[in-house]
Amino acid sequence: MKIIQAKDYSDMGKKASELIVRLVKQKPEAVLGLATGSTPKTTYKEMIKDHHENGTTYRKIRTVNLDEYVGLEKGDINSYHYFMNEQLFKHIDMKSDNSFIPNGMAENIQQECAYYNQLIQSLGGVDLQLLGIGRNGHIGFNEPGTSFTEKTHVVKLAEDTRKANARFFPSLNDVPHHAITMGIQNILESKSILLLASGESKAPALARLLNDRDVSVSFPASSLHLHSNVTVIADEEALSQVYSLEGRP
Ligand code: PGA
Repeated sequence: MKIIQAKDYSDMGKKASELIVRLVKQKPEAVLGLATGSTPKTTYKEMIKDHHENGTTYRKIRTVNLDEYVGLEKGDINSYHYFMNEQLFKHIDMKSDNSFIPNGMAENIQQECAYYNQLIQSLGGVDLQLLGIGRNGHIGFNEPGTSFTEKTHVVKLAEDTRKANARFFPSLNDVPHHAITMGIQNILESKSILLLASGESKAPALARLLNDRDVSVSFPASSLHLHSNVTVIADEEALSQVYSLEGRP
């Protein structure tokens, strides 16, 4: 696991964007696995800036998002469809046909999960999967206890996750109880993984990931120790409880 220390949230975004842009230039038809939440916002902002200033093109890029709430329409301001469009897609030259996000309104949610797994395969797999980390160590919406062999599935959101995300909704009651998420196995099948973390609220989770290094389903992010190409970009606050910042293979 390679650890890159960023000064703050904005610097984390710059460093992450540089890695993504490098891949986009090297492999113009790459499949990017994207994430939502507060964490990747500065990364997307920097990608947009680079697109405008340096002309990096996304015309052939395909994207698959990690997750979506069950029961929110695509146009709902809290849906991840809406988020991705506002935060990234509408500002770059991505083709709308090339971006994929689980459909949380699908009539048959189980079928939607199976379709999403097939889709990822038919795209040739994910070249780089961007991840945030939950305070409880979740990645995507894979909450503690999720088997590492799960593929795309429906989850009941942990109360801690609903509370953390309530800041975006009128009230906690409005936060959906379920989501569709890529599973940990999908994440581990990505060719490379870029995990981002910013702020002191993520410090205990990063400490558990990078100090303890135990691999346990009780801490989903620990599954990343089973992958050979993981980069962590985190800012000083998020790394404040990590003993050693030496990246270890
Ligand atoms: P956040 O969420 O970026 O909004 O902190 C990350 C996550 O829960 O995975």
